[in-house]
Order: sequence, then C-alpha cells, then structure tokens
Amino acid sequence: MDAEQFQLWQALLEERTGMTLAPERKQFLESSLNIRMRELGLDDYDTYYQQLVTGATESRAMEWSTLVDRLTVQETSFFRHPGSFALVEDYLGQFAAERGTGATLNAWSVGCSTGEEAYSLAMLISERFRAHGKALFYGITGTDISLPTLAKARRGLFPRRRVEQIDPALRERYFKDADTHTMQVADGLRERVCFAHLNVLNLDQAPMDDMDLIFCQNMLIYFRRWRKRQIVNQLAGRLAPGGLLVLGPGEITDWHDPRLERVHFADTLAFRRRQ
Ligand SMILES: C[S@@+](CC[C@H](N)C(=O)[O-])C[C@H]1O[C@@H](n2cnc3c(N)ncnc32)[C@H](O)[C@@H]1O
Repeated sequence: MDAEQFQLWQALLEERTGMTLAPERKQFLESSLNIRMRELGLDDYDTYYQQLVTGATESRAMEWSTLVDRLTVQETSFFRHPGSFALVEDYLGQFAAERGTGATLNAWSVGCSTGEEAYSLAMLISERFRAHGKALFYGITGTDISLPTLAKARRGLFPRRRVEQIDPALRERYFKDADTHTMQVADGLRERVCFAHLNVLNLDQAPMDDMDLIFCQNMLIYFRRWRKRQIVNQLAGRLAPGGLLVLGPGEITDWHDPRLERVHFADTLAFRRRQ
C-alpha cells in the first residue's frame, strides 16, 4: 500500500467511525484488508475501496459492517478499570439512599464491545440494590458500531478464564456453566441488559435520554480532540439531572460543560449533571 492509498483508507475510516489510524498501524490495516480481500477474491486495495464507496447501497453497507469489525479495537474485560467501578459503587449508594421505592436507574455503556463492561455494571448495580433492601430497578443498554461484537455481547457467553478473574461470589451468583471452557451470564442478569447498534458519530439519532449513568471508556482515545469534545458534549446532554458520566482517566483534557460538575474521586474522570 503506498502513502496515497494509506491516506485514502485512513480518511474513510475516520469519516465513518471517528477512529484515526496512526501511521504505525499501516501494517495492521494492510493485513486486515488483505485477509478480507482474499475472502472476497479481490487483489487490489483500490478496487475494494471503490466497492465500499460506490458499490450498491445494501451490499456496500454490509461489507462496511464486516470490515469495521476487523479494523476496530475491541479489547475489553470485566471490571476493567477498578477506580471507575469504585466511583459507580459510591454513586449507587447515593442513588439508593435518595430515591424512593420503585425508582429505576438507567445506565448506558457506550462502545460496549462484547459486553463485559455492561455486565460488570449490571452485577455492581444488582449487588448494591440488593444490599440496600429497597425495591429499586435498573436497565442497562450497551451500544457499539460493530455488529459481530454486539451479537457476542447478547449471547453472554465468555471464556471461563475471563470469568475466573471476577470475584468468586459474583461469579457464583451471576454466571452458569455452559461447557468446559465457557460460562454464560445468568438469565436474571441478561434480562436487565440490552445491546443496540449505534455509531457515536450519529448520537443525534440515539433514543437514549435521562440517563442516570453513562460509562464511556477506551473508545474516545482513538478520536481527534475536537471530535471527543463533540461526543462528550452530546453525552452530557443525555444525562438526567444528578446523572453521572464516567470517562477513562486522561481520555479528554480541558473539557468542561456548564451543565456538569467534575466529580473528584481517585484515579477517575467523571462528571455529574447539576440538579
Ligand atoms: C477498546 S473497546 C472498549 C470497550 C469497553 N468500553 C472497555 O473499556 O473495555 C472500543 C469499542 O468502541 C467501539 N467503537 C469504535 N468506534 C465506534 C463508533 N464510532 N461508534 C460506536 N462504537 C465504536 C469498537 O467497536 C469497540 O468495541
């Protein structure tokens, strides 16, 4: 792939997903494209590019969806950033204390990948509400641009070695054996979590509103500064009064929104919507 071709692919990826592909990732792009082109019986980058840009609408959308799954970083894990989950736990205590019986907490995992983040939030909320002894309800939505990862998230099947990293008491309560190497999220927890396709560049089309908790980590790091700000501004507008926005530490700097106040909690980057 020559420099001009690399620039074209970089621009296409950024325009459609927001992700910037650093020059060091050229080899990754080449090998991902080569694998896909072999599957399609194509042997040059330009033909494939044209197919994605000018092909028939439906087939082009389907092909893009396959490719985007290969080009995005989907690395994730349960309770990935402990500091952020400690903050959520603290917030849940306040939520439970302030709200009356029957209240519902709405949470959103933005860029949820295969679902570990959304299920971690579900376990934490479920535990916290149970301990509080009040009848409180919750629902979690995980959204992502990649359809294959969303399909995996919905199945709730995870390799046993990943689940084994979770606290044994939580594992016992919220997972069941699927086979020797796999465990599945228990039905009671899965029922509280739904997954939907959403490109964060189209947040204006997202139906989520009045969210009590928005968790968005390890996705904005691939975006340009101006775009991160645009997205975080939009997420701020989707918070309910008193709602909490949790980002990854260091993922955005010098950002501030008059509707929100910074939450100071060790090793976290979070904001709360003013009441
Ligand atoms: C590294 S994973 C982070 C998963 C999880 N939030 C975590 O912190 O463990 C980044 C996710 O963002 C998704 N993503 C990338 N660009 C996106 C976009 N424009 N809209 C929605 N999701 C996107 C990817 O498909 C991927 O699943």
